[in-house]
Amino acid sequence: MSYFVLHNGEKNQYQNLSDTHSYHNGKLRSVLNSTVVGLCIVLLLMSLWNLSQEQLPNTRIIILRSSKTPLRRTSHKFVSFGLDTSLLRNMNKMPIKDDRFINLARHLSPAYVRVGGTSADCLFFNKILPMHSVKPTSPVDGNDISNFTITNKDFMSVYEFANNTGLRMIFDLNALIRNPDGSWNYTNAKEIILFAKGHEMSMDWQLGNEPNSFHHVFDVQILPQQLAMDYIVLRGLLDSLGYASSILIGPEVNHVGDENHKGEDYARIFLENNNNSVDHVTWHQYYLNGREAKVEDFINPATFNYLPGQIKSMRQAINASGQKINMWLSETSTAYGGGAPGLSDRFVAGFLWLDKLGYSAKSGVYSVTRQSLFGGNYSMVGPDLDPNPDWWVTVMFQHFVSEIVLEIVSPDPELLRLYVHCTPQKALLNRVPAITVYGINLNKVQTNIWFQGLDRNVKIFLYALTSEQLTSRKIQLNEEILMLQSNGDLPPFRPIIFNANQNIPLAPYSMNFLVLHGVDFPACSR
Ligand SMILES: *[C@@H]1O[C@H](CO)[C@@H](O)[C@H](O)[C@H]1NC(C)=O
Ligand SMILES: *[C@@H]1O[C@H](CO)[C@@H](O)[C@H](O)[C@H]1NC(C)=O
Ligand SMILES: *[C@@H]1O[C@H](CO)[C@@H](O)[C@H](O)[C@H]1NC(C)=O
Ligand SMILES: *[C@@H]1O[C@H](CO)[C@@H](O)[C@H](O)[C@H]1NC(C)=O
Ligand SMILES: *[C@@H]1O[C@H](CO)[C@@H](O)[C@H](O)[C@H]1NC(C)=O
Ligand SMILES: *[C@@H]1O[C@H](CO)[C@@H](O)[C@H](O)[C@H]1NC(C)=O
Repeated sequence: MSYFVLHNGEKNQYQNLSDTHSYHNGKLRSVLNSTVVGLCIVLLLMSLWNLSQEQLPNTRIIILRSSKTPLRRTSHKFVSFGLDTSLLRNMNKMPIKDDRFINLARHLSPAYVRVGGTSADCLFFNKILPMHSVKPTSPVDGNDISNFTITNKDFMSVYEFANNTGLRMIFDLNALIRNPDGSWNYTNAKEIILFAKGHEMSMDWQLGNEPNSFHHVFDVQILPQQLAMDYIVLRGLLDSLGYASSILIGPEVNHVGDENHKGEDYARIFLENNNNSVDHVTWHQYYLNGREAKVEDFINPATFNYLPGQIKSMRQAINASGQKINMWLSETSTAYGGGAPGLSDRFVAGFLWLDKLGYSAKSGVYSVTRQSLFGGNYSMVGPDLDPNPDWWVTVMFQHFVSEIVLEIVSPDPELLRLYVHCTPQKALLNRVPAITVYGINLNKVQTNIWFQGLDRNVKIFLYALTSEQLTSRKIQLNEEILMLQSNGDLPPFRPIIFNANQNIPLAPYSMNFLVLHGVDFPACSR
């Protein structure tokens, strides 16, 4: 089945241009330059012709207002991802030495890679641990929660993977090693930090995972006041051992947005007591239960509307603590429990992912750490080391969306969820200023959009992501299946090009990146 009729007469007018142009081929630029002059005259004539074009039915008008200052600025490593600490239990099954995997990670840089998760609170460094005949499992999800140890070599190989792919590692230290008085015993953590420093590793840190849920998983309770003291101790350790300029993030709470506000309350009390020892407040977010989620849930606006409420509730908690600090979604995906099989790793998962990136950036979330790069049904890279659709969505985001966030109002905010940022330098044509409008169309039918008040010489480049089926593992860019080139390079991203005054057709169930070349907003001049 194909829902999508993307071509209309408009594509054919510019077919030559859209078929020869590639962002990834610098050599084509000079050819393009001379072509552009000639084309401009043609396009000018065409745009005059187009002025008389009728507005198509089902067209939504989008008004862009020039802004002097950005709405927000996110981290340069806004889109980041996790490698769950549980992977370190089986180092030889982790593909961090595989060239295909290294290549896929490299295409996502710059980013943070967070090595964290439930197993972080079971992890020891170079320690001989007592053997258990029966491995303890988590009452929450049945996962292995036995203590385990990693060696120098293991730690080094994870770091080398990050270092070689241009990623910045964040390592989650074990918060459950305790002294008799209840305070954190940092002896083992100090060995990791000393080892890292001894090998001149540049990296960042955190302590513990979902501490507000320790009693459910480990039958242990650590109060937020205590964890705050432990973070002060860790900050002091990092400062004295050569990591003064590294960031420390926490407290990694979950259950934000639940009726009882347990996650937010934990974070608030933590912030009230931690003496500014963290650089960002971190929390975890999922929309759905991986075991129950259905395909409809992945395209239902009610699912999407859950995140704004969670962010607002967390913001209130931060405000109530009296601190001025950014939040960071440090572990997040569509569905918890490892993701929903056949959904979280398919085309349909991209809608929640892209909307999360857009909404988070707009509402002041500093960085978003996707669970996960590898492992589980929510991973961006499959067990066969082929990229899943969300990997491609992320690559497109990294290419077309900068950290400078602007404002846009969608005329159909439930089903047409749009965001706008300045276009990054690397995606500009001849340094002509540009903005990138991106987002998702959840309508069952093609939706046309029309930008009001654009300068006549603006050219709109459309990059539409679609699929033959919502549950397909394949994803298409302007109707061509996305595949890496045989040498591992990205394929050229070929746009469909429109004039400023044309209707842009957005396919049903599509993700779209629209680069408006020639839109010059002062907020984007660097
Ligand atoms: C990290 O990478 C740089 C070069 O990119 C290299 O000089 C350095 O030795 C690496 N560090 C480690 C600990 O591997
Ligand atoms: C794991 O290590 C922690 C910290 O030393 C300890 O409290 C806990 O009892 C250990 N768990 C098991 C199952 O041995
Ligand atoms: C912390 O743990 C180390 C290693 O197990 C132990 O030698 C030390 O006595 C502990 N510190 C305290 C204060 O209990
Ligand atoms: C918190 O910071 C203040 C001011 O720098 C300092 O006096 C105090 O000792 C710190 N508290 C802890 C628990 O380290
Ligand atoms: C938090 O405080 C900021 C600044 O004081 C304010 O603009 C914002 O509306 C508050 N947010 C919430 C959710 O209370
Ligand atoms: C996906 O989920 C299924 C069912 O829970 C599980 O058997 C499978 O191992 C998971 N796949 C991955 C890659 O984790």
